[in-house]
Amino acid sequence: MATPAARPLGAQPGATRPARSTPPDAWLKPGIFVGSLVPLAYLVWRAATNRLGANPIAEIENELGLAGLILLVASLACSPARRAFGWTWAPRVRRELGLLAFFYASLHVAVYIFIDQALNVSAMTADVLKRPFITVGFAAMVLLIPLALTSTKQSIRRMGFKRWQRLHYLAYVAAILVVIHFFWRVKIDVSQPLIYAYVLASLFVIRAGVWLLQKRRPARPVAGAG
Ligand code: HEM
Repeated sequence: MATPAARPLGAQPGATRPARSTPPDAWLKPGIFVGSLVPLAYLVWRAATNRLGANPIAEIENELGLAGLILLVASLACSPARRAFGWTWAPRVRRELGLLAFFYASLHVAVYIFIDQALNVSAMTADVLKRPFITVGFAAMVLLIPLALTSTKQSIRRMGFKRWQRLHYLAYVAAILVVIHFFWRVKIDVSQPLIYAYVLASLFVIRAGVWLLQKRRPARPVAGAG
């Protein structure tokens, strides 16, 4: 569930990067892990102390779904952040962010299946088929599964980098579907989903800019030719 490593915009291949943009690995991944679990711990505390409001199941579903979306967008922002700001540490946590996004999305769907719908298969099937907001959420979840399953280095080796990269571009499709899911859920006040739509659009613009710059860069002469 990641896109491949990339150079900062305009950087030459092999150029050394400023050390200040590279926080030590020792705390980077544990920090991401602990930080990402804070929303879950807070949710558990609110549930244990009856602070989830009038509709606790909807509250739990929404909080878990939102955490999944935030982490998914954060994982997609890693390569553009490296390109745009030279944050070389960002791609090193892309995989963890993607897997944590999948973790929250799975909890979100599990709450829907086991608590909200109480394992009522016909009600869930009707929901997926008849409620477009659930249909797109379902499609997003289906897309996230192969990405999570192929997030290991062995998968990259087994599939070959290009094929793996093409598959992992599906993370963008999943994120777009989740944003649509969010829009259709809130219906009237779209201010929150709009933020994620803008962030995703910005990431696309950065990627498109990088792609155009790479296309316009003149091909380097082949050594010994001519
Ligand atoms: C089978 C797939 C899915 C189902 C059945 C589903 C179901 C739901 C339901 C029922 C709600 C509204 C809860 C309520 O207000 O009563 C919701 C909201 C939401 N879901 Fe999903 N969802 C699915 C997949 C996903 C995925 C994959 C993500 C993110 C990675 C996601 C993110 C969200 C978000 C962001 C909200 C709105 C949160 C808010 O209003 O603050 N959903 N989903």
